[in-house]
Amino acid sequence: MNVVKQSQPIGIFDSGIGGLTVAHAIVNLLPHESIVYFGDTAHLPYGDKSAKTIQDRAIKICDFLLQQQCKIIVVACNSASAAAFTLIQDKYKDIIDIINVIDPVVQYVKDNHFAQKIGLIGTRQTVSSNIYLHKLNSLQAEVKLQSLATPLLVPMIEEGFCHNKIAKDTITEYLTDAKLTDIDSLILGCTHYPIIKPEIEEFYQQQVQVIDSPQIVATYLQNYLQEKQLLNPNIKKSIHFYVSDYNDYFAFSAERFFQQKVCLQQVVL
Ligand code: DGL
Repeated sequence: MNVVKQSQPIGIFDSGIGGLTVAHAIVNLLPHESIVYFGDTAHLPYGDKSAKTIQDRAIKICDFLLQQQCKIIVVACNSASAAAFTLIQDKYKDIIDIINVIDPVVQYVKDNHFAQKIGLIGTRQTVSSNIYLHKLNSLQAEVKLQSLATPLLVPMIEEGFCHNKIAKDTITEYLTDAKLTDIDSLILGCTHYPIIKPEIEEFYQQQVQVIDSPQIVATYLQNYLQEKQLLNPNIKKSIHFYVSDYNDYFAFSAERFFQQKVCLQQVVL
């Protein structure tokens, strides 16, 4: 493993604005850390792409984040965590640590003894990979998982349709699907979905516990860095945002999340 310094930034990537939910939780929990965020907006959505395409993109992005001197990479995307994590973890194992957004949530579900019937919504890639079920089974978590692919949600959220009638109707249509009947809790298996968590919670009227990843992943990352003595002790933070295709809505979203003017650059990878 390369020698890394505590002051180096944390690299985070997603297909678009979804990973900002994770980045925001990380910045709140670890305010001393510098961040380099890459949103692969030219190749969005990942959820409908083949595993091979997502793997190729993940390699290009990891190479870019390495050039930016990152000390660790957070795959802030369930689809990429499902399709590419094993590959990139193996490829970069002697170079940089990489964490994903699925393992921390699966561990959280196991540790918190969630009720038996858990629903999962995510992209086609994440749901068809069955990765949550495999990982829950490998931890011997006694749960019954009922999964539904909800592919319209990412384009809807990227379009800024989050809190209007179209969003509410789309959410209702998906959540009333027979595959999600009688669940006690629902995993938001896509990092875009915390943006519409209020609408999802409103639909369930507190009858179903909604589990999302940003806070869980941020805490997992904190423990991980602490264990490796890689937390940055000095206040010297910077946040850089990169996208593969510039769009105003990404800039607007990043500014809304971080409540500050952001420096957003386009990089073609
Ligand atoms: N936010 C990502 C995820 O968690 C990607 C969604 C997409 O691009 O389809 O799956």
